Amino acid sequence: MASVTLDRVYKTYSGSDHPAVNDVSIEIADREFLVLVGPSGCGKSTTLRMVAGLEDIDQGSIKIGDRVVNNVAPKDRDIAMVFQNYALYPHMTVYKNMSFGLRMRKVPKPDIDRRVRQAAEMLGIEHLLDRKPKALSGGERQRVAVGRAIVRTPQAFLFDEPLSNLDARLRIQTRAELKRLHRKLQTTTIYVTHDQEEAMTLGDRIVIMKDGHVHQCASPHEVYNRPANRFVAGFIGMPPMNFFEGQLAQHEGKLVFDTGHGLLDLPSGAENLLRDRAGQSLVYGARPELLSIGSQGDAGGSSCLTMTVSVIEVLGNEKDVYLTLPSSQQVVARIAADVPADEGAEVRVFIETARAHIFEAGQSGANLTARVAR
Ligand SMILES: Nc1ncnc2c1ncn2[C@@H]1O[C@H](COP(=O)(O)OP(=O)(O)OP(=O)(O)O)[C@@H](O)[C@H]1O
Ligand SMILES: [Mg+2]
Repeated sequence: MASVTLDRVYKTYSGSDHPAVNDVSIEIADREFLVLVGPSGCGKSTTLRMVAGLEDIDQGSIKIGDRVVNNVAPKDRDIAMVFQNYALYPHMTVYKNMSFGLRMRKVPKPDIDRRVRQAAEMLGIEHLLDRKPKALSGGERQRVAVGRAIVRTPQAFLFDEPLSNLDARLRIQTRAELKRLHRKLQTTTIYVTHDQEEAMTLGDRIVIMKDGHVHQCASPHEVYNRPANRFVAGFIGMPPMNFFEGQLAQHEGKLVFDTGHGLLDLPSGAENLLRDRAGQSLVYGARPELLSIGSQGDAGGSSCLTMTVSVIEVLGNEKDVYLTLPSSQQVVARIAADVPADEGAEVRVFIETARAHIFEAGQSGANLTARVAR
């Protein structure tokens, strides 16, 4: 096992006019489970494939442990990779599939047998060892692909969207198994997904990428509660954070946020940080769970905006209420299922401002309140 370090890595594919990976620096600690997440095309697979040695890098360095591996062949990097479209050998049994890499490395037979059986037991697939891939379910095949990686004890595991072929239930189940497996083996792991929920549940830390850049690298708690910028804030969390564009303004001796539809109090601790920015155009961010719906009789005042209920989606004990502002901007509130709300009704929406965020203008505007205590 080893740490993996990317230092100012760049990659532009030949024929492309923009970098796929643009100045990426990440330090993955020994034994850490690190998740790379971001929208399609942001450079996740390219980053992973560079660590594996399947793509050359243009600039920068990649280290596995203390060894710079820029010019080390993939087979000599001592890592194991599981791809999204893992190809099991169809004519080989599960046992043969799992032992293939070890046989190629001329590992002694008794060692191979011990390692394959140990890995199979860990993954609960001992009873499948004599079957061929076509006689397995999608989830079982997936476990064989993981098994093929863990029969070795490499320096690191690399996973590229390994669960994306599975249905939702199996994905959640296999995700939990991967987490348990990591606790047991403690092998340094880099895991790529575009699914923010998978990233949040699996990662010790999460790297959020967009357009080849790293936008934030932090624990799931940190990323959720102190997103570095508006892009991260909108990408992590479902339904996404609501954003209101408006101005910081002075009102009755205090600094408030003017949405154009009403005033919002600032998040706690923000007034000191934003004192010099009165009059600036900024963005107010509030997650759906910070919004609650009152009735017509409730008092107005600050941090309450009037909106129209457009659609309600009941999730069980909660529901997502989609609301429309007079500007026709859409907002979503996640509230208890038993709170009354009718489609088409005009309602007062209260915002729990203490836990809101304020961002600079722009799609990736910096979070100006990231440092306030939460
Ligand atoms: N072999 C290639 N040749 C040229 N361009 C490529 C190649 N592979 C990827 N790209 C481009 O590089 C960028 C990053 O691609 P990459 O596969 O790393 O994205 P990704 O984050 O893994 O996306 P996805 O979630 O869709 O798998 C994209 O713009 C993509 O079109
Ligand atoms: Mg990819």
